Amino acid sequence: MANEVIDQPENHPDIDTAVDCVFEPFILGIFCNWCTYTGCDQAGTSRMQRPANLRVMRVMCSGRVEPAMVLKALKSGADGILIGACHIGDCHYVSGNHKTVRRIPLISKFIKQFGIDPNRIWLRHISASEGVELTEIVHEYVNILKKIGPNSFKKKK
Ligand code: FES
Repeated sequence: MANEVIDQPENHPDIDTAVDCVFEPFILGIFCNWCTYTGCDQAGTSRMQRPANLRVMRVMCSGRVEPAMVLKALKSGADGILIGACHIGDCHYVSGNHKTVRRIPLISKFIKQFGIDPNRIWLRHISASEGVELTEIVHEYVNILKKIGPNSFKKKK
């Protein structure tokens, strides 16, 4: 009798833990070529371990990341989008990352209107020598996205 009750998933005492283990968020990293992308490469060549949840797309500057790209990524199935930019003052195109810093809070506000958690978009300034920081950020982001759960904005197939 006791076994019958516990065999039901909703009666399992560790169901929250079990769900956490099953859901693996997909993170799209949109990284600036001159800083975060190089930092990511450096982390890889230094054999730093990071979750396999991250897929990287390279852009020449974080200022290139337009709101439409972010919305398309969410619609296409990304659970989180990590935008990697040069530190303020280091942008190779002078003010590209300033545009990004102004743009991301607006996009976050916009997606919040659709009931999408603003944490689905993160902007982080990570230089070419900060592979360790990038690895830590990816770990942190995976944990946060696991708590938020799958992206409900994802286009149904
Ligand atoms: S070149 Fe890296 S953010 Fe502009």
